[in-house]
Amino acid sequence: MTALHLIPEVAPALAPVAGPVVGPVVGPGADVAAAVTPDAGPAARPAPPALSLRGVRKEYPNGFVALDDVTFDVAEREIIAILGPSGCGKSTLLRCVNGLEPIQAGTIALDGASVTGPGTDWSEVRQRVGMVFQNYELFPHLTVLGNLLLGPLKVQKRAKAEATERALELLARVGLADRAGDYPRQLSGGQKQRVAIVRALMMQPEVLLLDEITASLDPEMVREVLDVVLELAADGMTMLIVTHEMSFARAIADRVLFLDAGQIVEQATPDVFFTAPATDRAKQFLNLFEFRTPTKKTASGRGVGHRGDGARPERQPRGPTPWPSQPTPRPTAHRPS
Ligand SMILES: Nc1ncnc2c1ncn2[C@@H]1O[C@H](COP(=O)(O)OP(=O)(O)OP(=O)(O)O)[C@@H](O)[C@H]1O
Ligand SMILES: [Mg+2]
Repeated sequence: MTALHLIPEVAPALAPVAGPVVGPVVGPGADVAAAVTPDAGPAARPAPPALSLRGVRKEYPNGFVALDDVTFDVAEREIIAILGPSGCGKSTLLRCVNGLEPIQAGTIALDGASVTGPGTDWSEVRQRVGMVFQNYELFPHLTVLGNLLLGPLKVQKRAKAEATERALELLARVGLADRAGDYPRQLSGGQKQRVAIVRALMMQPEVLLLDEITASLDPEMVREVLDVVLELAADGMTMLIVTHEMSFARAIADRVLFLDAGQIVEQATPDVFFTAPATDRAKQFLNLFEFRTPTKKTASGRGVGHRGDGARPERQPRGPTPWPSQPTPRPTAHRPS
C-alpha cells in the first residue's frame, strides 16, 4: 500500500482509480452543449455550463437513495451555496461530482462534456474539480510543501521548480508564507484548512467543491478560512459550497440550492431564499438558525418581559447577519447574467 492510499478521501483524487459506475443514462444531459443550443451554429453557441447535472440518482449499496433526480447547472464563475438539513445529501452530491461516489443514473458534465460515461478518466476529472473537506485530510508525515507538491508532481508530472514556486506564492496569499516546512501537527485547524485549500488550488481546478470546511474550527479560524474563500470568489473561481454558515452563504453565493431528502426543493438568489423562502421545509430549516432569548420567569411566574396587558412581548424575526458587512467586491465582467 502506498502513502497515497492512507487517506481515503485524498487517495482517489491523486491516483487513477476506476471511475463511477453509471447505470442507464437518463435525462437530456448527455450532450449539454448541444442541448443548450440545438439550432445555433458554432459561432452563436454560448459557452456550456462549467458544471451540469441531469437527473442524478445516487443509491448506496444498502438501497438508501441519497440523491434523487438532481438537476442543475453551474455557470463559469458562479458560486452556489448548497444548504439543507443534516443527512439531506449535500456531501453525497459533492462526492458524486468529484467521482468519489458512483452514481446510478443521470449525467454529470464538465464544460459541456459528460464525465459519467464508461471511458471517463477520473484522475483527470479530479484535477479539474478540486475538493476541500471538513477534516483537512493532509498527510501527517509530509510537510506543508510536501503535501502541496504531491498532486502536481505525481499526478500532473509538473516540474518541481515551477510547482514549488506556485506553492509558495499561494501559501503567501493565504498568510502562510513561513509555514512551508512545518508538519500539519504544528499548525492550527484554520492554518491546516488554508493549506488544504491551497492544495486543491495547486491542481488548477476549474471548479472547487467545499464541504463544510469551517465546521471543525473555532470562530476566529472560521473567519480566516472564509476570508480565503472570499478571495477566491473575487478571483472568479467557480465554487459549490456546502456550509452551515448562513450569513456567509448569503454574502458569497450567487444562488442557493436547498436540498431535502436527496432532492432540490428550492433554488433562489440568497436574498430571496433568506428573506422569503418558498417552501415550508426551507422556512423550518432557516428557523433553526434563529436564536430567541427565552423569557425569564419571575417569582410570580410571569415573564420578565410581561407587559401586564396580556399581550406577549413582540418577537422580531431576525434574518441572518450580513457577512461580511462589506462583501468583497467581485468582478462582474464575466459574471453569468
Ligand atoms: N456509505 C453510505 N451508505 C449508506 N448510506 C449512506 C452512506 N453515506 C451516506 N449515507 C446516507 O446518505 C444520506 C446523505 O448523507 P450525506 O453525508 O450526503 O448528508 P449531508 O447532507 O452531507 O449531511 P451533514 O449535513 O450531516 O453532513 C444520509 O442519510 C446518510 O446516512
Ligand atoms: Mg455532509
